[in-house]
Amino acid sequence: MPDSTIESILHEERLFEPPAPFSDQAYVRSRREYEQLYSKATANPERFWAEQAEQELHWFKKWDTILDWQPPFAKWFVGGQLNISYNCLDRHLTTWRRNKAAIIWEGEPGDSRTLTYGELHREVCLFANAMKQLGIQKGDRVAIYMPMIPEAAIAMLACARIGAPHSVVFGGFSSEALRDRLVDAQAKLVVTADGGFRKDKVIALKEQVDLALEHGAPSVANVLVVERTKAPVTMVQSRDHWWHDLKSQVTADCPAEPMESEDMLFILYTSGSTGKPKGVVHTTGGYNLYTHLTTKWIFDLKDTDVYWCTADVGWITGHSYIVYGPLSNGATTVMYEGVPRPSNPGCFWDVIEKYGVNIFYTAPTAIRAFIRMGEEIPNARNLSSLRLLGTVGEPINPEAWMWYHRVIGKERCPIVDTWWQTETGGIMITPLPGATATKPGSCTRPFPGIVADVVDLEGQPVADNQGGYLVIKHPWPSMIRDVYGDTNRFRRTYWEHLTTADGQPLYFAGDGARRDSDGYYWVMGRVDDVISVSGHRLGTMEIESALVSHTSVAEAAVVGRPDDLTGEAIFAFVVLDSQQAPSEALAQALKQHVIQEIGAIARPAEIRFTDALPKTRSGKIMRRLLRSLAAGQEISGDTSTLEDRTVLDKLRGGN
Ligand code: PRX
Repeated sequence: MPDSTIESILHEERLFEPPAPFSDQAYVRSRREYEQLYSKATANPERFWAEQAEQELHWFKKWDTILDWQPPFAKWFVGGQLNISYNCLDRHLTTWRRNKAAIIWEGEPGDSRTLTYGELHREVCLFANAMKQLGIQKGDRVAIYMPMIPEAAIAMLACARIGAPHSVVFGGFSSEALRDRLVDAQAKLVVTADGGFRKDKVIALKEQVDLALEHGAPSVANVLVVERTKAPVTMVQSRDHWWHDLKSQVTADCPAEPMESEDMLFILYTSGSTGKPKGVVHTTGGYNLYTHLTTKWIFDLKDTDVYWCTADVGWITGHSYIVYGPLSNGATTVMYEGVPRPSNPGCFWDVIEKYGVNIFYTAPTAIRAFIRMGEEIPNARNLSSLRLLGTVGEPINPEAWMWYHRVIGKERCPIVDTWWQTETGGIMITPLPGATATKPGSCTRPFPGIVADVVDLEGQPVADNQGGYLVIKHPWPSMIRDVYGDTNRFRRTYWEHLTTADGQPLYFAGDGARRDSDGYYWVMGRVDDVISVSGHRLGTMEIESALVSHTSVAEAAVVGRPDDLTGEAIFAFVVLDSQQAPSEALAQALKQHVIQEIGAIARPAEIRFTDALPKTRSGKIMRRLLRSLAAGQEISGDTSTLEDRTVLDKLRGGN
């Protein structure tokens, strides 16, 4: 598309109406229907959610109270009992879905497996019994550190089945990062694999677990190891167990444990602007309902659809929209082990063609990478099965949106740009594809039942098109319940920044946004010290601590620098110990050190050595200046609070 056309689309904020054939068959078919649903839901959110909970989920026991809201603590469906694994599996077995594909899995080397609902149920029961045999009981935390293989989902569902909260740790995290999470959650069991395939390499997951445990995570009594790569691993006697050995020792009889609606379902660690990653706590009933309903309406999910979300189960997107949301709906969900790589840049399109994927949900950073690789790659595949596209994780630039729309969607598939967070559990602001006209770059309007706003520091709503802080005003079923083991941090991070005029706390998302005159939201990105690299959240402080833990480093400041591909890239300013001299070799060593401390996703793209950092007189690093420097921009704005003005000149010179 010529630039001038893109310009005019962006300038005019062109609307893309849902295609009529799509709307005609959708759950929500028009803007009017959306508005009716929205007003009904916001007029009485509790009634709305209770109706949905009754209709969409199976409860062993109905709740007594829909919502108990003692800000900032919400309890949903109090007194109700259910099990999300039952809702994802058992209830489908009495229907024709018993033999329907639940998970279609494609391995990176090209091997594949399909598990029907009947088969998945059996695997989950066996896995649950194996964990019980290792002493896992209701309430015990289980860490899952796995490649993208069906057993990752099986382990999650097995935990949910017996009421053992899981903590899935992304397989790209290092042993140090894994250890921190094991210690914080006091995990009793680690579920892992001998390895996984990623970018044509074998990732040695078991080795990372061994290292993590060597460095001390005393709560861990056992390790359950799934065979994937067949690469040799060391098995520690009485601690480590092969899944295929235990599997033959247990039965497939494992009824789902009735869970209280507010029982913890999982912990998922995410980065914040201060301290170590925090364990976001989600509970059972509200999360089950919210992920179920958002999956159904936002992806317009029908029983005949093949649905594919390309996330990793290590992130919230994988939890809510690969595993729980789709399976609760009885859908066919695709899991893919690999990522596009030089040896197979078209692998995503091959998967779509091979399985006839209808709904495809991915990240803006992946779309930008596809643009670079050239449209001849997707054009050489048959993508005609696609009917709906989605994006998540970071703002999508309108150019990438247009490319996605034209090259992948062939101008016939609606795009849902979905805004949400680990803390929100499910999608909050999004088009409903049959109802909402889209504008490239906007995540459009809140989901029914969600009351969002853009406010200033006083908590006052700002005028249309004015920038401000994105907040959520009313509790919703899948909201974060706590930061594991640190309720003060939960209050401080999310609820103490902003309050309404009458003193009600507002949920502060950490994002800046504006709302236009059509009520459409435009999320600009984080307003705190969190960087988003390829849609992955990293706290600047986490990376700084990793750098400073290297013996050569005296001080470090990390900022995000705009990057065409990854959205932001990590730029580190490093002050060396006086004995050390800057060198390329040292820069490489520091990058390697960060990989070791956190994982490859936290690797700084650039390290700049400096004698000093720009600080205020009170000693606070002036990140605004560093951000401008990292982006190669002129420094503008007030620099009068700078303690030593010569520091800036030196930094500009790159010394
Ligand atoms: O800054 C927002 C951005 O991702 C953050 C949440 O990151 P995480 O908890 O890792 O969850 C990512 C997947 C849900 C948000 O605070 N973000 C997410 N989706 C969008 C987005 N920014 C703009 N547009 C989106 N659609």
